[in-house]
Amino acid sequence: MTTHRVGVIGGDGIGPEVVSEALKVVRAAGVDLELTEMDLGGARYLRTGELLPDEALDQLRALDAILLGAVGTPEVPPGVLERGLLLRLRFELDLYANVRPFASAERDLVVVRENTEGTYAGEGGFLRRGSPHEVATQGSVNTRMGVERCVRYAFELAGSRPRRHLTLVHKTNVLTFAGDLWQRAFDEVGAQYPDVATGYDHVDAACIHLVGSPRRYDVIVTDNLFGDILTDLAGAVTGGIGLAASANLNPARVGPSLFEPVHGSAPDIAGTGRANPLAAIRSAAMMLDFLGEADAAARMTKAVLDVAGALATSGTADRRTAELGDAVAERV
Ligand code: IPM
Ligand code: MN
Repeated sequence: MTTHRVGVIGGDGIGPEVVSEALKVVRAAGVDLELTEMDLGGARYLRTGELLPDEALDQLRALDAILLGAVGTPEVPPGVLERGLLLRLRFELDLYANVRPFASAERDLVVVRENTEGTYAGEGGFLRRGSPHEVATQGSVNTRMGVERCVRYAFELAGSRPRRHLTLVHKTNVLTFAGDLWQRAFDEVGAQYPDVATGYDHVDAACIHLVGSPRRYDVIVTDNLFGDILTDLAGAVTGGIGLAASANLNPARVGPSLFEPVHGSAPDIAGTGRANPLAAIRSAAMMLDFLGEADAAARMTKAVLDVAGALATSGTADRRTAELGDAVAERV
């Protein structure tokens, strides 16, 4: 049996609570992990002023995968932890495919969100800040290489699923430069995947379809910001954000990939034992799958979905964190 070396960033708020349930379920599934606990997040920042020191990044680079709970505390202003820790990890580790699966009785889709470019790249700045003539620009960076590798990953994923369908979501009617590059990359890569049927929707229309036509989508590929927004909506219509898992992948496997629930640190319920650990458990299942533990991953995912389904029908939404972790662990 292989031992996988996993960096654990519990983070802030409910992060450590949901991660500990995820690790409980991994153990129950019989997979052996060698854990390296990393002290990163808002608490460390407030204590030491450090976000992601180079030594911590080097330590993470040497591991097989990273499991992250959530980062963020109300005392730290917006943007600091997001850019300095979360996005820095995505960029430094080149985690270019953000894979977010959504499943419910009516929907079974995966969003592949480009994760290193677009408006998230940090291009732009201020002129005359604070004056009445202030200007702020925030550019969208789209490289042919960056778009193409993300689109290629999405075609590979779509080709591995029964429906073999991939939809590009963008806003080509208005974002005519970025949209054009995305559309051409999509068409050219798609020509190499004749078995995958393709579609295109503008992002605003995709919001309507996500809500109103549950079976329209199989795999969606889209840019960083559209993917951010679309996956919150997809989460909301498929059992809520408490179930939304994600994998930040470096498909080339140059360094570790990072797995995290889509939700945040929820400081308002931290320590109450009321956090829903299902998204974190499902994220850990995605991690095992990427580490080659397909069987354990499938058992974990099924157990999470079974427990989520039982929760939805029994209407007892306020089950305790550990109770839910136990319920999933018993089923794997
Ligand atoms: C997400 C989050 C992050 C994002 C934030 C916290 C930087 O909303 O993972 O979806 O915008 O990507
Ligand atoms: Mn988001």
